[in-house]
Amino acid sequence: MTEPILVAKKDATPNGEFYLLPQMSNRHGVITGATGTGKTVTLQRLAEGFSSRGVPVFMADIKGDLTGCTQAGGGNPKIDARNTQLGITPVFEGFPATVWDVFGKQGHPLRATVSEMGPLLIARLLQLNDTQEGVLSIAFKYADDNGLMLIDLKDLQSLMMHVGENADQLTLQYGNVSAASVGAIQRGLLQIDEQGGDLLFGEPAVKLDDFMQSSGGKGVLNLLAADQLIQAAKLYSTFLLWLLSELLNLARRRVIWKSLSSYSFLTRPISFSPMHRRLWWTRSNRSFDLSVPRVSAFIL
Ligand SMILES: Nc1ncnc2c1ncn2[C@@H]1O[C@H](COP(=O)(O)OP(=O)(O)OP(=O)(O)O)[C@@H](O)[C@H]1O
Ligand SMILES: [Mg+2]
Repeated sequence: MTEPILVAKKDATPNGEFYLLPQMSNRHGVITGATGTGKTVTLQRLAEGFSSRGVPVFMADIKGDLTGCTQAGGGNPKIDARNTQLGITPVFEGFPATVWDVFGKQGHPLRATVSEMGPLLIARLLQLNDTQEGVLSIAFKYADDNGLMLIDLKDLQSLMMHVGENADQLTLQYGNVSAASVGAIQRGLLQIDEQGGDLLFGEPAVKLDDFMQSSGGKGVLNLLAADQLIQAAKLYSTFLLWLLSELLNLARRRVIWKSLSSYSFLTRPISFSPMHRRLWWTRSNRSFDLSVPRVSAFIL
């Protein structure tokens, strides 16, 4: 489990090897480099390293080139020659993977209910200002107080219509509800609907325990097919925030139960620059640092 993960090798000497220590992988990291310098392959190496240690991995795949991890390689004379030069005896193997897709086309559908996502993230998704966000929170509170289920976007649109019609009464009970704010929220919901957001919200909502699988002793690679989702940038970022916060909650619960020794969450490298053709590791943002040994790897 704690055997270092060989990430890269530049020559046949031990000094030419670059390792990641699994017990240090509950840190943020950024992989940067110009195009074609090996960012994707580095990410795949990390994912395979975690998987072969039984650790499930989550990766958002915005170019559709991460699924290569599922297939055993081999048969390329140039790579064989390079392996000989570096003194590597490769073991070619595929890794178990589950593909997820918000739009349900390329993999298992990945959905959340409006209630689960909550007013804060939905306000962010709709790019609401403070006043409008306040009105959305009032609507959620009203739904909560009255036992109204908020499953999909249509539920939220109906709720906002009801809130708009009963603005005077709700203002007395919860605080100021203006027609302008209700209108802004409805407009935002329409835009999200047009971007395919209606597919994101609904049932059955994903059970995040489904991400924590292993097969034949290897952790399953959970690949989010994000090539289409990335086009709707706000939807993509809000969805990832929700997913990460849910995964963190799950990890915390599991850590308390002491039932799982480690996790890893990887996302695509987020930036590259021709000036920085090397791998970067940074200490984590404290809010994401679980500070528990062997709970690993947030690479953002
Ligand atoms: N460590 C390595 N040793 C030898 N070849 C490598 C190594 N890493 C990557 N390559 C090869 O370099 C090529 C580009 O790698 P990769 O796709 O990972 O680059 P990238 O930085 O992700 O590029 P892009 O910015 O276009 O996504 C691939 O053909 C890959 O096989
Ligand atoms: Mg790449």
